[in-house]
Amino acid sequence: QAAQKGGYKHFMIKEIFEQPKVISDCLAGRVDQAKNEIILPEVEGMEPPERLHIIACGTSYHAGLWGKYLIEQWAKIPVEVEIASEFRYRDPLLSKGGVALAISQSGETADTLAGIKLAKEKGLSIIGLCNVVGSSVARESDYVMYTQAGPEISVASTKAMCSQLTALLLLALYWGKKKGVIDAATYSRAAADMRSIPSILETALPAMRSRAQELSREYSEANSFFFLGRGLYFPLALEGALKLKEISYIHAEGYASGEMKHGPIALIDPKFPTFAMALNDDLFPKVKSNLVEVQARGGEIIALTNPGVDLDVEHRWSLPEVWGPLNTFIALPALQLFAYETADYLGKDVDQPRNLAKSVTVE
Ligand code: G6P
Repeated sequence: QAAQKGGYKHFMIKEIFEQPKVISDCLAGRVDQAKNEIILPEVEGMEPPERLHIIACGTSYHAGLWGKYLIEQWAKIPVEVEIASEFRYRDPLLSKGGVALAISQSGETADTLAGIKLAKEKGLSIIGLCNVVGSSVARESDYVMYTQAGPEISVASTKAMCSQLTALLLLALYWGKKKGVIDAATYSRAAADMRSIPSILETALPAMRSRAQELSREYSEANSFFFLGRGLYFPLALEGALKLKEISYIHAEGYASGEMKHGPIALIDPKFPTFAMALNDDLFPKVKSNLVEVQARGGEIIALTNPGVDLDVEHRWSLPEVWGPLNTFIALPALQLFAYETADYLGKDVDQPRNLAKSVTVE
């Protein structure tokens, strides 16, 4: 096992550091460098869906929530994202000829498989987005896209989500172009800049880890955490909270920044810190005013942000800034590193957290 960990203390940290390569591998063969064009042979045979139902569980569900933003924005396809265990018992309104996208790292999650079965019975075609080659999700799907992340051993999923986001971004661009609805400049920028993310992330990761170490020591005694984000960063806030819960057993809630004031803000006090996704995007001014509300209640804030962003909080964590939604690929590992360093500092069993399984094959 020590050899498999490649010198790292845990699989989780090894897998976090593998993400630059995971992105490259997921892009390999899917971006024609000369033409700066996305090629997805896996879904070439189908028309872009008129409506898409994404079905998934856990971290894969968060990836789906993120994918919705880009698929709706770039490909103009309405997307519903469903927790598989809800979808399967909800008698959902599905129209024949529609498409379901099942996202699953393992490809063996029982609820996701049941969701696929239901969607098939109602006449939908299935796209399986999975990591494990030949898994049940892959076998049950009409079209299969592999995420190419390599084996993920740590129970808490990290690099698999990174590869799912990469694949969803490619799908959004591909369908947007195929339908002729994506703006040409956005398409070229996204396709070109995505290829530079692996090297930017590779360079940034060591310093990000040190920052995560510092912050985890400061907050390891917190009993609860909020993770806040808006837009694309709302699903990331959910994922940041899930990672912290899973491996450090610290209670954490992921919330949409703007929804805080409708209840949860009552919990804020000096011992209830907030981890904010305050990256430099159009929604930043809104996030900033939400953070002022948190500070007014005495809450301390760690903010994931970018250099030059005007923000006055206890702890700034500045990440290198890239183009638009691609900032997600730098922010996600920061959340993972914070959870990892906290759990490791607290002496938890990082790779095998209590009560959790890598793949949940029962209901
Ligand atoms: C389990 C794992 C999670 C994972 C979820 C969905 O609960 O502990 O890390 O996100 O299953 O797994 P899947 O393989 O379907 O992506």
